[in-house]
Amino acid sequence: MEKITEGKIDIEIPKGNIRKKDTVFYNPKMQLNRDISILAIKVFEKIAKRKIRAADALSSSGIRALRMAKECKKIEKVCINDLNPRAIKTAEKTAKDNNIKNAEFSTEDANVFLSKNKCLFDYIDIDPFGSPIYYLDSCARAASGKSLIGITATDTAPLSGTYPKTCVRRYGAIPLREDIKHEIGLRILIASIVRAFSRHDKSFVPIISYSKIHYFRIMGISTSSTGLAGKSAETIGYALYCKKCGNRTLTKKPKDEKCGICNTDFTIAGPLWTGPINSHLFIGKMIEKDSKEIKETSDFLEALQKESAVLEPFYDLHQICKKNHLEIPKRDNLFKELIKRGYKAEKTHHELTGFKSDINYKELLKIIKEI
Ligand SMILES: C[S@@+](CC[C@H](N)C(=O)[O-])C[C@H]1O[C@@H](n2cnc3c(N)ncnc32)[C@H](O)[C@@H]1O
Ligand SMILES: [Zn+2]
Repeated sequence: MEKITEGKIDIEIPKGNIRKKDTVFYNPKMQLNRDISILAIKVFEKIAKRKIRAADALSSSGIRALRMAKECKKIEKVCINDLNPRAIKTAEKTAKDNNIKNAEFSTEDANVFLSKNKCLFDYIDIDPFGSPIYYLDSCARAASGKSLIGITATDTAPLSGTYPKTCVRRYGAIPLREDIKHEIGLRILIASIVRAFSRHDKSFVPIISYSKIHYFRIMGISTSSTGLAGKSAETIGYALYCKKCGNRTLTKKPKDEKCGICNTDFTIAGPLWTGPINSHLFIGKMIEKDSKEIKETSDFLEALQKESAVLEPFYDLHQICKKNHLEIPKRDNLFKELIKRGYKAEKTHHELTGFKSDINYKELLKIIKEI
């Protein structure tokens, strides 16, 4: 065992292979994911205007929920659940070592644990090995009238189109193995969350969504308003993508359409979320709460906030130039030109060579040709 500190929690975790069976799983690479959850809860506490009951349904060592209990101000209690009794033993010991008194522990299947606690939790975290799809209905069941929800998916290969049949089977959606595959995967996952919440007459709107090498993360706000549930369900649509020239668009109603630029049949991906995936306002409030102690977290949030100013799906400069036999311009030159002409231009966290702009594709290709 080794003793480490994450946030305000001191914890003893097993040394060595984090994937070894029957050990307690702790992944230091997921600290950014947890840091972002804590900041989101700090903002949500103000919106909710009441004490928060939080559930970490697949908690492993309990680090995320114990950090909430220690670092957030208005936590009434944290319920820490994991099927693995060793994980819960670690969580109990860590709670004691860190003098945390408002934690409850259980070793149930996450679906049983959540379904038993109907409408009880104001924050629910679902962080499984693989797909979260198996837990979405019980998560919706356990969400209170206004709640913050955090969902992690590590089955990025199906969602990004490497295994399209698995994506269709699991998420009932067709992915897209093209430059925007990660954004399409995120949007498919959001649509699955929205549908699960809709089935329980609850709304879900994403406020922070991002892709990392091995996982997707979505945090959003759910309410028990049937009107809002209808609105979020209506935001589900499709992406149309031209494999020949890279033209792309989001649409609520898919038709057999041809690309307006090269007349090739569009490929359809989805159903997926067609609305904003990051809230500029909410992320701005998270940045205000950030202590700036962890540079990776601060830099990442600032980047996400900047790109959230553009709603359209991102472009990969190299891929669109390759598809259209164009010389790749310097990104700075392209950005200068776009901004000069009154368009937005931002980098995206999804790809180093990616960028976001509100310009239409035909106009974008014209500008690239000119510079
Ligand atoms: C990726 S880890 C969770 C990591 C943790 N959230 C963190 O931030 O460190 C997934 C956990 O889910 C637990 N698990 C797997 N299937 C489960 C189930 N059906 N119900 C509850 N827990 C389960 C595993 O024991 C494992 O500890
Ligand atoms: Zn085309």
